[in-house]
Amino acid sequence: MNEAIRPGPESPPRAIATPELSVVVPTFNERDNVTTLFHRLETALAGRAWEVIFVDDNSPDGTWDVVRGLARQDARVRCIRRIGRRGLSGACIEGILASSAPCAAVIDADLQHDETQLPKMLGLLETGGADLVIGSRYIEGGSADSFNKQRAGASQLATEVAKRVLRVKIADPMSGFFMIRRDRFEQLAPQLSTQGFKILLDVVATARGELRIKEIPFTFGSRLHGESKLDSMVALDFLGLVLAKLTRDVVSLRFLLFAMVGSIGLFVHFAALYIALEAFDLPFPNAQGTAALCAMTSNFILNNFLTYRDQRLKGVAILRGLLLFYLVCSVGLLANVGVAFSVYDQEPIWWLAGAAGALMGVVWNYAMSGLFVWRKR
Ligand code: GDD
Ligand code: MN
Repeated sequence: MNEAIRPGPESPPRAIATPELSVVVPTFNERDNVTTLFHRLETALAGRAWEVIFVDDNSPDGTWDVVRGLARQDARVRCIRRIGRRGLSGACIEGILASSAPCAAVIDADLQHDETQLPKMLGLLETGGADLVIGSRYIEGGSADSFNKQRAGASQLATEVAKRVLRVKIADPMSGFFMIRRDRFEQLAPQLSTQGFKILLDVVATARGELRIKEIPFTFGSRLHGESKLDSMVALDFLGLVLAKLTRDVVSLRFLLFAMVGSIGLFVHFAALYIALEAFDLPFPNAQGTAALCAMTSNFILNNFLTYRDQRLKGVAILRGLLLFYLVCSVGLLANVGVAFSVYDQEPIWWLAGAAGALMGVVWNYAMSGLFVWRKR
């Protein structure tokens, strides 16, 4: 019998080499891309101990199923299938935290990023004195030629805002391609936002200059199969992140959006009241009730579309959510009137009492909606 493979107390079975690098790949509807990416990683990282963690948000196209197939053939592949959640940033965070290698890379599944840069990036972390290496499109040697005009403009604008407002001193904070030392990431993770898609910007802004950063150029290529998941609403995510970082998480974009939707609701209410009274000749109490119902319904629709777009209710859940929203807002109205009355009782200034009541109402509605209507599953 071959000595080398006989396990004995003096020679324990050889452990699988622990990975030096964990590659994290967020996926949503990428079933036609993941196998190609895996083979390209195999080539690029030959001679290195590495693993790849796909974090899939329960893609309708069954990406997770394809990844499981790869994982059955190769133990370096893992799949995290998340249910009831969506978001690029959250997926990346979860993937990195599920890894154990000293270094973690984030790379898109659609082959727009350049996996052949990974060994160089790893070298910079291991022996180059860097904590974070960024694949950058906006330094000498890099490019984003595959962008259309509109997308290029938006990317440039966001980059400028990030640099000026958040004082981020890197050329491409919007990049989705980077590698970081896992211990440094682990320190920052509790303060990162799981919403949105600007994970790198979040990491850099949260670290406040504490990370040693290197940028290397790469060419942002074209998508292999499928289509981009980023729509025009990502501008909102970006705004939210800037706001949160600027105010050290005091101001939440969600609350601002909720309050904004609430003020639109006020207009809807008055318009509906006017129409009910003038065009339909309803008696005042009926008209007022109808107007309130209209305002609550439009608030619900807008909040579902904007404020809670990442947790948007669909199908029958909409009806259930709407009924709960009516309930929450009715109690909110009672709280509003109650507070206004008691303030007016102390200090008969109508606008102060009115504002205190309205503030009470919106805070209540916001808190309760988050708990019951768009609750995290
Ligand atoms: N798990 C998960 N959940 N993955 C997602 C989600 C999500 O909600 N949304 C997108 N992804 C995955 C995609 O499947 C893809 O692998 C990767 O994240 C990037 O998404 P794309 O839809 O291809 O984005 P893009 O090409 O428009 O934007 C990329 O380039 C930007 C640079 O301008 C991303 O890398 C951005 O992060 C980057 O800012
Ligand atoms: Mn892409």
